[in-house]
Amino acid sequence: MDSSSSQSPKAASPTPTTAPAPLLSAEAAAAVGILPASHWADQPLPEEHADDDTASTIGSVLSSTASLSSTIFQYRTHHGRTYHGDIGNAEGWEPNDQRHLESMDIAHHCYTVCAGGKLFLSPLDTKKVQKVVDIGTGTGLWAIDFADEFPHAEVIGTDITPIQPSWVPPNVQFELEDCNQEWTWAENTFDFVHLRMLIGVVEDWHALFRQAYRTCKPGGYVESFLCSCHFVSDDGSVKPGTALDQWGNVCSQGGKAFGRTFDVYEEDLQRKGMEAAGFVDIDFKDIVVPIGVWHSDKDAAERGLWWKMVLEMDLEGYFNYICHSLLGWKPEETQAFCAHAKKEWNDPNIHGYVMARFAWGRKPE
Ligand SMILES: C[S@@+](CC[C@H](N)C(=O)[O-])C[C@H]1O[C@@H](n2cnc3c(N)ncnc32)[C@H](O)[C@@H]1O
Repeated sequence: MDSSSSQSPKAASPTPTTAPAPLLSAEAAAAVGILPASHWADQPLPEEHADDDTASTIGSVLSSTASLSSTIFQYRTHHGRTYHGDIGNAEGWEPNDQRHLESMDIAHHCYTVCAGGKLFLSPLDTKKVQKVVDIGTGTGLWAIDFADEFPHAEVIGTDITPIQPSWVPPNVQFELEDCNQEWTWAENTFDFVHLRMLIGVVEDWHALFRQAYRTCKPGGYVESFLCSCHFVSDDGSVKPGTALDQWGNVCSQGGKAFGRTFDVYEEDLQRKGMEAAGFVDIDFKDIVVPIGVWHSDKDAAERGLWWKMVLEMDLEGYFNYICHSLLGWKPEETQAFCAHAKKEWNDPNIHGYVMARFAWGRKPE
């Protein structure tokens, strides 16, 4: 396990772009209902959606020429965006460049708003919490906030890429670890195991919760928050064949092809995994996460405001790897798809939302 907090992620040395064959051929994609890239390129867009700045972002990302010896900093590239270096058998779909980190930072605020301003919903006895782990911590803001709020707790954040800041509270530490490999901590180590937004990340959710159970102290909690990738609407305004409708299908097929499902909510894997591992007192909170502020409920509208900001910050980043690796799309083709999604969520007549779930459980004493 490497400590990652002392080096700057900006000093990446991108490896050359490769162009492997897409995992789904055009025929196979059509067979599962994914519309071809040409569908999005052929449809006109209003002027304000045509000037996305992906191309300039790609240029600035590629201009980094610093070299580092550690392979952890030898970032993979897909169409000009950088991704984690080799670690375990990780195959992350999220970029680790500056544009995406800004989106992840806003996402932390969005998820906190989803939790009603809280960092967790488990009934933790916070005075007694000594050791906490945040698996797949991203930019580490959850771990940092938890450490700030509970200075007596020691917090570890793990990820496959060193994108966490180095100026952090003294009770936080970041480690590089592939969560799909055997966890390196001893049994009964943590009072709280936190797993947030690990969609498209986990190879086997049952194995993940088994590892959470083993490393959790008796009486400790595991909590998982994540959202569905399938946009729905109560009024039929998310229509079949629209970009918002295709979104879920593209992610689902990507998850199947990469062996890391995005359909965790649909497959009820939080509950099933916790139950099978032995957690008890399992509880849930399901919420709607709209896109944009159209919802009449004030809290839902606030979630929608932040969710839209998260996605607008780097929608192309969320789709670049999947569309490239799965479907073989060029950056401008992914960009056209994303532009249609943005047009749709800015249409006041379209009321799309995804479901999201907080689930938590206790390891028996
Ligand atoms: C959607 S982000 C969520 C970040 C953070 N948990 C949050 O909620 O703000 C998913 C994170 O999982 C990390 N990740 C991907 N594959 C991983 C793996 N095999 N092991 C650990 N982390 C992984 C990614 O690098 C990314 O930071």
